[in-house]
Amino acid sequence: MAIRTRLTEKLGLEHPIILAPMGIAASGKLAAAVSNAGGLGLVGIGYRGSEWIKEQSDAAANVRVGFGFITWRLAEQPDLLELALDRQPTAICLSFGDPRPFAEQILAAGVPLICQVQTLADAKAAVEANASIVVAQGTEAGGYGGTRSTSTLVPEVADLLARISADTLLCAAGGIADGRGLAAALVLGADGVLVGSRFWASEEANVHPKFHQTALAADGDSTIRTTLMDIVRGYNWPTRYTNRALKNSFLETWRGREAELAASVDVETAKWNKAWDEGDGENSNVFISESVGLIKAIEPAACIIARMISDAEKRLASVTAAIR
Ligand SMILES: Cc1cc2nc3c(=O)[nH]c(=O)nc-3n(C[C@H](O)[C@H](O)[C@H](O)COP(=O)(O)O)c2cc1C
Repeated sequence: MAIRTRLTEKLGLEHPIILAPMGIAASGKLAAAVSNAGGLGLVGIGYRGSEWIKEQSDAAANVRVGFGFITWRLAEQPDLLELALDRQPTAICLSFGDPRPFAEQILAAGVPLICQVQTLADAKAAVEANASIVVAQGTEAGGYGGTRSTSTLVPEVADLLARISADTLLCAAGGIADGRGLAAALVLGADGVLVGSRFWASEEANVHPKFHQTALAADGDSTIRTTLMDIVRGYNWPTRYTNRALKNSFLETWRGREAELAASVDVETAKWNKAWDEGDGENSNVFISESVGLIKAIEPAACIIARMISDAEKRLASVTAAIR
């Protein structure tokens, strides 16, 4: 059996699963592992530059992968897009910002555009940008995101696309970590899923092993959305986005003391960076989704995909069998 959707057809995939372009965790190695296992791997560019694009596309070798940019960040260094397009990616994903200024260049290169969106208004902008695939990202997601939940945003965007652009495909993101999530996303009207945190917790991810162990000990109650890490890292994120991470000492210490943290960055940034390098999840941050509670082991990406598919197939079959 297999799950065939418009997404598998459009991108020539075996499974309707896309690796989220997670900054530094979604390396060329992880993206290649996901593509080799029948999904589509997207390398996360995050805050990195040209060296990262070269290194990670070399690491993916000849495997078909795409790239994912943080859109407002790309606007600060637009030349990176040409570099990524030169590598003949399977797709380019733009998240967090207006995709329209970059769409023409991507489409002119014959590369499908994926836009990750957090609201209906974003979804309309993605359609105006001629995106091939819209990813509706719910607030359950790890890392940056908005306030809408996956279970209402996905069907609402599905309805919108059916009305204004029926050929545009839809993926669901945010809290999808197993076969239940995949099956639910398909039932909500998605053509596939974009998965971040579950692949972050894979053997191929570029993640400190101590962060992995910290995440395995956490449950879905342990995460929070905040922007404290923007202050300490000096990132100028648009205020509509917050970042989901594990609750910890750093967030507890600085909650409600943003101005004080901003005034102490000279000292605090060095402390945060050191903790990050050492995999100290109490004094830096572990960026992860509410789905952390569904993650029980660090496994090869191929195992994660195989189980997700077989479990989704069983669940969809049992729901169908229950219909009288
Ligand atoms: C550690 C981490 C880093 C992320 N970095 C990025 C990023 O650089 N660019 C991006 O578009 N999305 C990023 N995301 C968000 C993902 O694209 C995606 O929306 C999210 O992982 C989906 O929810 P899930 O984590 O529940 O699977 C990140 C997510 C995580 C967990």
